[in-house]
Amino acid sequence: MSSLSQKRIIVGVTGGIAAYKSPDLVRRLRDAGATVRVVMTANAEQFITPLTLQAVSDHSVHRSNLLDADAESAMSHIQLARWADAVLIAPATADFIARMAHGLADDLLSTLCLATEARVAVAPSMNQRMWQHAATRENVAVLAKRGVSVFGPASGSQACGETGPGRMPEPTELVESLSALFGSQALGGVKVLVTAGPTQEAIDPVRNITNRSSGKMGYAVARAAAEAGADVVLVSGPTHVPYPEKVRVIPVISALHMHQAVMTEVANTDIFIGVAAVADYRPAEFHQQKIKKTNDQLTIKLVKNPDILTAVAKSVKPPFTVGFAAETENLEAHAREKLMRKGIDMIAANRVGDADVGLESDENELLILDRMDTKRLPRSSKRQLARNLIEEIATRYCAKSTSKNIRRAHR
Ligand code: CTP
Repeated sequence: MSSLSQKRIIVGVTGGIAAYKSPDLVRRLRDAGATVRVVMTANAEQFITPLTLQAVSDHSVHRSNLLDADAESAMSHIQLARWADAVLIAPATADFIARMAHGLADDLLSTLCLATEARVAVAPSMNQRMWQHAATRENVAVLAKRGVSVFGPASGSQACGETGPGRMPEPTELVESLSALFGSQALGGVKVLVTAGPTQEAIDPVRNITNRSSGKMGYAVARAAAEAGADVVLVSGPTHVPYPEKVRVIPVISALHMHQAVMTEVANTDIFIGVAAVADYRPAEFHQQKIKKTNDQLTIKLVKNPDILTAVAKSVKPPFTVGFAAETENLEAHAREKLMRKGIDMIAANRVGDADVGLESDENELLILDRMDTKRLPRSSKRQLARNLIEEIATRYCAKSTSKNIRRAHR
């Protein structure tokens, strides 16, 4: 099965001569099993008609005007941004690349590029001198640093009569590059259980103890695992994050609740990833009625919650077990100590307490440790970081399963 099967792709067409290849690209993406919607800039319409792209995509084309009430009521630009699994801009002109690099949002396609959390790729198409100009080089470098994939350009004779780099790759090559972006479905058929969010430990009917975890990282991890082909169950504490698609969500409130849900699912799990910020302690007793403000001081006795990660690692047939460590200091040392103490296969550590990374932020960076090694995943969006983490987990999980099978065969 193609990794593009059932994927939802937005093809963005900008105003370059290579736009004549866009209908073929749309057709080939659909042949690979993708559903395609086309967004055109105003200049693209000078090269190719919306009618052609409507015919090959089998959907009405989204045109450049952001303020078109009819188009917005059918599918708003934000809905479209959320709908996509990937946005491929082909051809991408030097001008459009520059606008993306500067975060402009003055038409539908540029706005989508800012609003989407999906993978974004550009297939540059321009005169070879324009491609080699320092301004374009810098703009492309900015996009690449932000996680945008750059397909091509190819080299050869150009429409303007010159020869050099700047040709948009052929549609077949673009389809291949886009499939590769979705990975080899490294976790195809693998059962993954993820915990996410905070837990709430009730004191009385109106009060609880909780923490500042937003759930964003855990949800991004669940989503990335599903994108890699896994069957994903997400046990989630209370969050405001929309449920990821293609993931079975079990909502829970407290640590005891989360523990129970995880232990029910674990026998049917190949990989467990504990991202939740589970409360270490809960109130020893639950007051049935609201506590009244009668005394100057109030003491609440807390008792320890079960450690879910350790319980999973010690279960009868433990899955490949991955933990998270949120630390304010001595990141690597604390994480390694937790890896050993909890008896898990791998741990992803991040620094918390800084305002711009960690718990509530949209960005993060991780240090990943296994029994052998330490590796740094540099700062990026939680979405991108989750994909990178899933790749690292998939590699180690496959290596461990293979060595287990070899040992079994030798017995
Ligand atoms: N975790 C868990 N159950 C708990 C506490 C933590 O499953 N009761 C998991 C988290 O989901 C995370 C990992 O353990 O994957 C590390 O959590 P962390 O709070 O950093 O570690 P603790 O063991 O609680 O150690 P400490 O708070 O002392 O740093």
